[in-house]
Amino acid sequence: MPWTGRTALVCRSFAGPGSGPVPNRAATQNIHLETDRLVLRSWELADLEPFADMNADPAVMEFYPSTLDREESYAPAQWIQQSLDDQGFGFYAVEAKDGGGFIGYVGLSSVQFDAAFTPAIEIAWRLAKPAWGKGYASEAAKACLDHGFNVQGFTEIVSFTTPANQRSIAVMERIGMSRDAGGDFEHPNLPAGHELAPHALYRKIRPSSS
Ligand SMILES: CC(C)(COP(=O)(O)OP(=O)(O)OC[C@H]1O[C@@H](n2cnc3c(N)ncnc32)[C@H](O)[C@@H]1OP(=O)(O)O)[C@@H](O)C(=O)NCCC(=O)NCCS
Repeated sequence: MPWTGRTALVCRSFAGPGSGPVPNRAATQNIHLETDRLVLRSWELADLEPFADMNADPAVMEFYPSTLDREESYAPAQWIQQSLDDQGFGFYAVEAKDGGGFIGYVGLSSVQFDAAFTPAIEIAWRLAKPAWGKGYASEAAKACLDHGFNVQGFTEIVSFTTPANQRSIAVMERIGMSRDAGGDFEHPNLPAGHELAPHALYRKIRPSSS
């Protein structure tokens, strides 16, 4: 499968069916998680501009093949919300309770490509640069793990990234994920030999108390 902006949108795993217009309807489910400092919620039209700004930022997209232009950012938004509506889990829009609106997304998804470790549920994140360095990604991710294990009933959640993406790996480790040393893989949505193709795999098994 060729690398596309759409797969680049969400941690290199999505090649979902969504390429339609931006969302124009209210969410059909009450998608809402809350932490001390954050709200994880359904997407709103007002999120689309900051979402596109985030995806156009070279710092945010350092470990993706390219930044996304506005059309590439808008296209998958409906699919992301549809997935939340249909499944009750997905990539939540995240905002800080102290104001300022959308700061990025964090959430769960079925891995959308075949690999030795699939089928699997992954956890992924992307925050706008001003929201880095505050612990927000780890805080949101912990809430998503809790939801995945205790509400959705998943027995394992994985995450993966290119090894150079140390900030993302630090989030994985902060939320208690462990590297599967034998799980390293070449991302199938990237051309063979691409510098970002090698990926490290992290896993977290549902805690026995869950
Ligand atoms: C990956 C990404 C979400 C990580 O963001 P991050 O800010 O480094 O991670 P967290 O939100 O967990 O914040 C942790 C940092 O906040 C600091 N921090 C500050 N206040 C804090 C608080 N109250 N609580 C916890 N941590 C706090 C921590 O010390 C840590 O700092 P450090 O980076 O100097 O060690 C972010 O870099 C990003 O969006 N990158 C681009 C997209 C991407 O690559 N996604 C992954 C694709 S697989």
